[in-house]
Amino acid sequence: MSTQAESKPWTVPALAEAKHDGRKLVMLTCYDNSFARILDANGVDLVLVGDSLGMVVQGHDSTLPVSVEAMVYHTRIVGRGLRHALLVSDLPFQSDATPERALDASVQLLQAGAEMVKLEGASANKLEVIRYLAERDIPVCAHLGLTPQSVLKFGGYKVQGREEKAAAKLRADARAVEEAGAQLLVLECVPTSLAAAITADLSIPTIGIGAGPGCDGQVLVLHDLLGLDTGHRKPKFVKDFLAEGGSVAGAVRAYAQAVRDGSFPDQAHSYA
Ligand code: KIV
Repeated sequence: MSTQAESKPWTVPALAEAKHDGRKLVMLTCYDNSFARILDANGVDLVLVGDSLGMVVQGHDSTLPVSVEAMVYHTRIVGRGLRHALLVSDLPFQSDATPERALDASVQLLQAGAEMVKLEGASANKLEVIRYLAERDIPVCAHLGLTPQSVLKFGGYKVQGREEKAAAKLRADARAVEEAGAQLLVLECVPTSLAAAITADLSIPTIGIGAGPGCDGQVLVLHDLLGLDTGHRKPKFVKDFLAEGGSVAGAVRAYAQAVRDGSFPDQAHSYA
């Protein structure tokens, strides 16, 4: 398995090249240095310091309590473990409420080692924030579908875009975030056919989580990949790779291989 991660460090422009060449992108969340070094050495292209750390590291019921300070801390310790993978960090709840706040938080994250920031949603306000950051040379990853910071509005963690009108809105939102300047898009919990259509619509890569095999890459929460009990219900798209991998490094390699050869996610780990 020869990957860019084994030869030279990933860059933001290389993401679009990977999509153009039809090379799948392998992404995992990570929150500490030891795991960062394992991911980096075992074929992961992008590492996400997700605000999911609020749920899997800090023991909260949602991502809402996560602070910029916590994101900066975890970004710094993960970043020290990476030589090849591109480091993406989440803008936590309401740190992207205004362009100025988002810029302040993004600068802190980039100075801690992030190479791209991720933010949820495509409201007029969020599009303005994406534009504002992109114009200031801050690479942005958008996140649509089930956006966990909107859990109170959604009334739970539910598949998004199942009805025709909602699907059309998601497709329009995806085009809008690309137009605003996002260079990567995470699609969470959307039907396989919708995620594939969005992927075909865009020139930026899509990364799916519960979005089927038609995306340009995949991401999972590290604890889910390792079958760890986080105290939260496991969604359908989660697969424990530790059993087949035999070790943490083996599980990461098995996941990377399965994403690259298209065997993960299969139908059993996707939504119709
Ligand atoms: O916070 C996170 O881990 C995420 C992924 C689930 C995409 O946003």
